[in-house]
Amino acid sequence: GETITIKDLAEKMHVKAADLIKRLMMLGMLVTINQEIDAETAAILAQEFGYEVEVKPEFDIESLLAEEPETDPAALKPRPPIVTVMGHVDHGKTSLLDAIRKTNVTATEAGGITQHIGAYQVEKNNRKITFIDTPGHEAFTAMRARGAKVTDVAVLVVAADDGVMPQTVEAINHARAANVPIVVALNKIDKPNANPDRVKKELADQGLVPEDWGGDTIVVPVSALKKQGIEDLLEMILLVADILELKANPDRPARGTIIESRLDKGRGPVATVLVQNGTLNVGDTLVAGQQFARVRAMIDDRGRRVSEAGPSTPVEVLGFSEVPEAGEAFVVVEERLARQIAQKRLAKKREEEARARAKIALEDVYRRI
Ligand code: GTP
Ligand code: MG
Repeated sequence: GETITIKDLAEKMHVKAADLIKRLMMLGMLVTINQEIDAETAAILAQEFGYEVEVKPEFDIESLLAEEPETDPAALKPRPPIVTVMGHVDHGKTSLLDAIRKTNVTATEAGGITQHIGAYQVEKNNRKITFIDTPGHEAFTAMRARGAKVTDVAVLVVAADDGVMPQTVEAINHARAANVPIVVALNKIDKPNANPDRVKKELADQGLVPEDWGGDTIVVPVSALKKQGIEDLLEMILLVADILELKANPDRPARGTIIESRLDKGRGPVATVLVQNGTLNVGDTLVAGQQFARVRAMIDDRGRRVSEAGPSTPVEVLGFSEVPEAGEAFVVVEERLARQIAQKRLAKKREEEARARAKIALEDVYRRI
């Protein structure tokens, strides 16, 4: 909400700050001259001095960036599902992602995988599926903590020889909290000691009752190692995605999330971004957190230069002024505004840091007393 310092309020009311502080003390509040009080307190205080207070909302940049709901349903087009792979340590997340990518990308692409980026797309039945290659619930949690919803479907990898483990349960809880449907990949079925029935029982105990047990959880037996069941898994992902009726409007300025970022020796700051709505074009200007970018070039998951990226498409973006933070949302806006927003956010961050430092210093003083 809006705030004002005692000093500013006193100036506006043409009274002494000390008088305001005194009055607040009588109301039971201990404040200093540079302290900010909320609009409500300011209003009460001003009334005590015979003023009426009108709170004008400050020009709020964040609400300006909030996504307006689509008014024209005809503008919405189907988009590929965005899938995250989660599961317990060593249950085969990375192997599964590799298997999905190899059976679907290398086979059809001359030259194979030229470059690895943090997200990629595969095709199944002439439809695309986007995988975010940040397996593990830590990345998931970090993104969710930032309010970024980047996953439509969670693939829960459970090793058939090990079963439901603590991090499996955590992953289930994360997916549930984010309201994301779960498809179970029952991995390592090639192992002699694999025990699918035991794992299904453990899943049922967690409320994920498999379909063949009369529940509605899709469980696909796979072997990432032997590349078995991969096509089935992709098919099931599409099935679940169909129910979600995922749509976006490709004909508007892009917005989405920074998936990963780094400083490249030759190319400068590089970010893998996931476009979630609209279309990102070379030449667009965007803001992500405190960072500004003019999109100089875009590279897709096969290492090809592209000039545009539509909904659910992951691309590497070149042209950031500095490395943006993973998990940060990005929005395409007109250049001047993008720069202003980045600056304003930076100023706010600095202010918060200064305030935190001041607080620490103050606590230090208190301790010494
Ligand atoms: P973390 O990233 O450490 O959490 O592990 P992960 O879940 O990514 O597992 P990863 O893919 O690294 O696989 C762990 C081990 O299991 C490796 O030695 C893999 O070769 C093996 N593995 C993965 N999938 C299969 C499978 O389907 N069958 C068999 N037999 N082994 C597998
Ligand atoms: Mg891994």
